[in-house]
Amino acid sequence: MQHPMQHLIDTDNFSDAQIANLLEDARRFKAQRPPQLLKDKLLITLFFEPSTRTRSSFEVAAKRLGASVVHLDPSRSSTKKGESLEDTFANLCAMEPDGVIIRHEENQAPGLLAKMQMTPVINAGAGNYAHPTQALLDLFTISEHFNGNIAGKTIAIVGDIANSRVASSGIRLLTRMGMKVLLVAPKPFLPKETHLPTFENIEEVIDRVDVIMSLRAQLERHKKPIFDDYGEYAKHYCITKERLGERNILILHPGPVMRNIDISNEMLDDPRCKVLEQVKNGVFVRMAVLKLLLLDS
Ligand code: CP
Repeated sequence: MQHPMQHLIDTDNFSDAQIANLLEDARRFKAQRPPQLLKDKLLITLFFEPSTRTRSSFEVAAKRLGASVVHLDPSRSSTKKGESLEDTFANLCAMEPDGVIIRHEENQAPGLLAKMQMTPVINAGAGNYAHPTQALLDLFTISEHFNGNIAGKTIAIVGDIANSRVASSGIRLLTRMGMKVLLVAPKPFLPKETHLPTFENIEEVIDRVDVIMSLRAQLERHKKPIFDDYGEYAKHYCITKERLGERNILILHPGPVMRNIDISNEMLDDPRCKVLEQVKNGVFVRMAVLKLLLLDS
């Protein structure tokens, strides 16, 4: 019997067993580059918002597995002539790709396309709602750091949580995996409604966290400027060596990092900071995601 078409809109599309398999696949791919599992497969990337890491990471992952990738640049596509997202997608699907990877400013865009059931849809970041492969690569990085023992560990998410899809997906996945999640931010950056503990000062939580995930201010999503002076913000929320001391805390950031506002130059060079390891792991995790969605294994 053929399985229904599977998409990745957020990580709740994957069962616990699928997530465990996916992490195991990523671990194997990191230890030894896999064979060309996706030879003859073709993916289309469709990024309506800028990206450095996610787009190139998906492309590297696909190509390492032998797949071909076609990129459609929406700023130079018929979207500019008024073609709707659904029509753009349907036309791309008529070319019979094996999946479409989409980033969009609208929270619902990937889910809307998935409902058309034309090809597997992979959400590469939608509005402030979800960024599932970032959450999975963060989970992988945390799990690798703690040798798989993450249940009961505490993570503080620090920064513009209200506007961050990384935070949204991360909160859903990391709490599901048994981590305690604390939110630390000035009031305008905290979600209006949350079931999680919130704090306005890092100092209130620093002695009880195992991981800090720093986030940049999502200026592109602010309807009007929230702070005039991010230097002042940094005095309270920048992850500095002075603030961290000798504490053994894993420091993460999805990028792009606003240097000396989110994390200091000095901390970015500190071995506790795994920002580039996250990027490296992202390729293996996305390989595992593509294997799962395109090969159903
Ligand atoms: N982490 C992340 O989504 O980075 P990009 O916006 O560069 O893809």
